[in-house]
Formats: sequence, structure tokens, C-alpha cells
Amino acid sequence: MNSKSVTYTLQPGGSISGRIRVPGDKSVSHRAIMLGALAEGSTEVSGFLEGEDSLATLQAFRAMGVQIAGPEQGRLSIQGVGMHGLQAAEQALDMGNSGTAMRLMTGLLAAQSFSSVLSGDASLSKRPMKRITEPLRTMGAAIELEQGEFAPIRISPAQLRAIDYQMPVASAQVKSCLLLAAMYAKGRSVIHEPAPCRDHTERMLRGFGYEIEVQGSSVSLSGGGKLHATNIEVPADISSAAFFMVAASITPGSDILLEHVGINPTRIGVINILRAMGADIEYVREYEAGGEPVADIQVRYAQLQGIDIPQDQVPLAIDEFPVLFIAAACAKGSTRLSGAEELRVKESDRIQAMADGLAVLGVRHEVQPDGIIIHQSEFGGGEIDSLGDHRIAMSFAIAALRARQAIIIHDCKNVDTSFPGFAGLASKSGIRLQVQ
Ligand code: S3P
Repeated sequence: MNSKSVTYTLQPGGSISGRIRVPGDKSVSHRAIMLGALAEGSTEVSGFLEGEDSLATLQAFRAMGVQIAGPEQGRLSIQGVGMHGLQAAEQALDMGNSGTAMRLMTGLLAAQSFSSVLSGDASLSKRPMKRITEPLRTMGAAIELEQGEFAPIRISPAQLRAIDYQMPVASAQVKSCLLLAAMYAKGRSVIHEPAPCRDHTERMLRGFGYEIEVQGSSVSLSGGGKLHATNIEVPADISSAAFFMVAASITPGSDILLEHVGINPTRIGVINILRAMGADIEYVREYEAGGEPVADIQVRYAQLQGIDIPQDQVPLAIDEFPVLFIAAACAKGSTRLSGAEELRVKESDRIQAMADGLAVLGVRHEVQPDGIIIHQSEFGGGEIDSLGDHRIAMSFAIAALRARQAIIIHDCKNVDTSFPGFAGLASKSGIRLQVQ
């Protein structure tokens, strides 16, 4: 199927209710494969995201000789090959749409004794890669980029040395890429982040028994250690749950329970922001799974208020802004986002892609270089191009709950990268969505 072949048609109105569990966390799923493959022994994973992005990571490790059984209903069994047991793949490793897979794998492969090539789809081939190759080259990596900036990434074998690196952007992908490379480097590496960003790699390294130190905004580890197989229970992805949190928050009569959602403090920006806007979000049960905090979350309708989104929440909600823009358009007054220029280099330029769709619906807004101001507006209807960006497609599907006319969203195939089954869960919960 080509990527233009899925269209969502949404009838206006409705509300959502019930109890749902969204698929497994994408960030945790990628990392489970990577660390499980490098560990000694067999790692059992449950709750794995069977989406195209994490499946691309799984295929890449199979292509490098790792035996992985599954996935079957989110269960995987990975026979770890140890830190030095990967084998050269016969072909380029196709990372599809996934920036996380490409950037983390580059760190890992830069330290191997064989050459590799990493390629991606049209969107991934336009995303910035110098942010990882510059520090990796400082570590001694031998990497070539297309036109000096983009994928495909060509990696030759190299001996890495440790790095002390101040990251210019708060990016968990850059941090994780460097931590994976640092496991193979001579000496102790220290990585400083300008603001807290997701820490799944640090948590999971500990879970696999790798010594790692976190002090304030710095993470350090020494090369030459080992990973010991463990079992990983992947929580439901808060980034996928976010669509239903906003859906319930903006629609009178809505009341939904989201089960087993990961509430890692470095991921809950969407909850903090919605609560600051007046949302009714309650953790009904909190517990821990696989080294990550988890909760069942109840969300009920509440009239939202516009806010200035606090800067410290931006990296913690970086993937949830498209759907937060839909919430903002329903909030009294105006909502202002700044300091979010990173949104321009995601699967699409998410500031512009959202602004274009909001304009179609008649939502008043002002685009800024590093954010957007959104004014409370009624939603009309119309045809929207998701630009092949999964989160843009799902965000406008949520907007239909408050629209006065039908919304047609084009190019929705990539929803499968992060949220297989979205259309079914959305329909089940009350969104009037049809897929063509
Ligand atoms: C991710 C980090 C974030 C996020 C992406 C997943 C990760 O990217 O947008 O969807 O798993 O590390 P950046 O670290 O580049 O902000």
C-alpha cells in the first residue's frame, strides 16, 4: 500500500467514553529491542508496540543476526548476542519513518567492527542528522551523511573514545545515541542536557545492570561494561493516550479511563499542560512496571482556559503539541507556545502542518518561528493534508468531536508507525471515524 492511500472521514460531533488501553510505548519498545539484543541471555518483552517504527528496529536486529521470537500480542523473546555479537547486515537497514531508530542505531553501529548503512523514508531523509554525527565524530566515529546532513548514513568501523558533551538541544534521541556509543568507548563519557528530556535509556540501562550515574542534568557511564538480560513490561504510550485525553477534555459529556499509561516524569508534559488549562485528569491507580511509573488515568470533560505554556514543559510534551493545539483552540482566550522550534524538524514541520490544518477549520492563530498563538475558535470542517505525519492525522481526527462539518484527512497511512488500531479504538470510544 502506498503512503497516500489511507483517508479518514470524520462526521462532526459525539463524545467519548469507556475504558481503553492504547498500544505500547514507542520509545521504550525501541530501546527494549536494542538493549535486549546486546545483552547476555534471553530478554522477554511484553506490551511491545507492534507499530511500523518499532518493527523496523526489530527487523534491523534480525538482519544483524539476532534471533527474536514474536511479536505475538505484544510478546517478544530476544536471544541477546552480547555487546560484540552483532553481525554485518547484508543490505542497508531501513529505518522507515523512525528518527529514534535511526539516531539511536547510529550511535550503536558507529562502535561496531563492521560497516553499516542506515536509510529511511522521504520524511526521515529530510531530518537533521548532524546533531548526532558531530559528537560521534568527536568520539572517533567514521560516518558519512548524504549531502553532509541527511540519511542515508554510512558508517565504517572505528574505535571510539569517551566524550564530555554539552548537548545544544534537549533531545533524548541525541542523548541516547551518545550513551549507546559510550558503552563501547574507551573511558568515561559525560553528557549534559540543557533541559530534562525523556530518560528511558538511562532507566533501561540500569534495568540491564549497566552502571550509569545521573547527577542533575548530567549523565555519565564508562565504556566496556555488559548488559544482563531482563524482562521488560512496556507501558501504554502516553503519546498515544494524549489523543484521548484531549478528546475527553474538549467534549461535553466525555468520561474515559485510559489503562496502564506510562507516567514517567520526563513524559508527562501533556498532563501538566492540560491540568494547567483546567482539565479534569485523575490518576485512579498508580503503580510501577518494568522500571517505569504507570497509572490508570480518568479524564472527564472540563472547560479549558488558554495559558502561556511554561518553557520547562516543552521537551516533556514535545510529541503531544499537535493534539494540544486542538485543545488550545477549544480553550477560553488564547494559548501561547514558544521555545518549540524543535517541532519544525519532526516527522513534518509540525508548527506549519498544524497551522495549515487549523486554517482549514477556521481556527484563528498566529504562527511564530518557535511556536504558535492559538485563539479560541469554533471548528468548521474541510479537507486536511496530514503530510504523512501520524500525529497530525490523529490530532485532526480528535478535532472532529467539536466540528460543525465533516473533516476529511488525507495521507493517514503513517498512523500505523506509532498507533496501529487507532481508528478502531477511536470508533469504539465514540469518535465518528471511517477509514478509506
Ligand atoms: C524520542 C525522543 C523525542 C521524540 C521522539 C521519540 C525518543 O525526539 O520526539 O518521538 O524515543 O528518544 P527528540 O529527542 O529528538 O526530541
